[in-house]
Amino acid sequence: MLIDVVFTTNPGIEDLASEEIEAKLEANIVEQRTGKGRVIASVPPRNLDLIETLRSIHRARILLYRGEICGSKECLNTLRDTIRKSQITRYVNPHLPFAIRAERVGSHDYSSLDIARVAGDAVIEAIRDLYGERPPVDLDYPSVIVVVDVIDNELYVSIELGGDLSWHRRGYRIYDHPAALKPTLAYALLRLSGAEDGDTILDPMCGGGTVAIEAAYLFESSNIICMDKNPRHIEGAKLNAKAALVYPRIKFLVGDATRLSRYVSRVDVIVSNPPYGIRMGSPWEVRKVYNKFLEEATTLVSKSITLITTEHVVVKESLRKNGWRIVEDRVVAHGNLHPHIIVGSR
Ligand SMILES: C[S@@+](CC[C@H](N)C(=O)[O-])C[C@H]1O[C@@H](n2cnc3c(N)ncnc32)[C@H](O)[C@@H]1O
Repeated sequence: MLIDVVFTTNPGIEDLASEEIEAKLEANIVEQRTGKGRVIASVPPRNLDLIETLRSIHRARILLYRGEICGSKECLNTLRDTIRKSQITRYVNPHLPFAIRAERVGSHDYSSLDIARVAGDAVIEAIRDLYGERPPVDLDYPSVIVVVDVIDNELYVSIELGGDLSWHRRGYRIYDHPAALKPTLAYALLRLSGAEDGDTILDPMCGGGTVAIEAAYLFESSNIICMDKNPRHIEGAKLNAKAALVYPRIKFLVGDATRLSRYVSRVDVIVSNPPYGIRMGSPWEVRKVYNKFLEEATTLVSKSITLITTEHVVVKESLRKNGWRIVEDRVVAHGNLHPHIIVGSR
């Protein structure tokens, strides 16, 4: 028997998440909600443990129910019945403290607090019917988290597999770079770059080292270089790499990406999250940096240049001018910004 799991990911990289889920979990993709950051897959139970090895997902939840729900207050009765009839009693019992986490997107006559209240009552009623006792509620440290999402006219009821913390927030962020990239997006950049194990991979504006660390997880025998002009960020990146247990795999350099040829000779791919310019004050300044950096990079890179940036127009123009073919241009969500991932190939 297969178990349906809802995975959440960064909006814009659902296809890469689906590929990774299929390959690592031997799962069948049931649905990919492009732009919504959701993938539903049927997973063999023996592979549920492997979910924590996925680099492209934020959360994973066992799906108990997915169906329609309307927006009027009376429809909260549908929610109550649905939860009572679901397989909730497999996961909650009178000895396990549980919590409801409710999310609502769209326009409804009820709030997410209403959803949480009705869902909580329904779980208690279902357990009391079966055991004659009610389960304890613990909103701070629950053993079981029941997630109820109402997204427009869709209702999802699921059980959180990884606790309250999203997978991408775990682990190695000892040094918090002020403009850090989500590790799931770093994974996406590396996948889209076409880099292969054994390639020399350079992030010349590496900040806290997210791309370099993800590269070390992904490729066992690649040379990986993490460079930034700010020595403080390089010290931070070293701390993060130590926490990620990949420190010996990465070479760290303090250097200026606009003078790249002073620091590195040939590399196969550049994968980077350059500054978006918001912190540099003037868009002209940041564009100058991009143009100079891409001109230098062209003389050193053999395969591809992959950048995530809001300055996509400048990047595409500069890549083309330097003889690169644009093979990927996609928009992703990153916080409240919508940068593009651009890949230039030889
Ligand atoms: C958006 S941040 C990178 C964040 C990084 N991806 C992370 O997850 O921590 C951009 C970085 O580019 C660096 N930078 C800006 N101009 C540079 C230049 N000319 N040469 C090298 N690094 C530069 C900044 O110091 C900053 O750390």
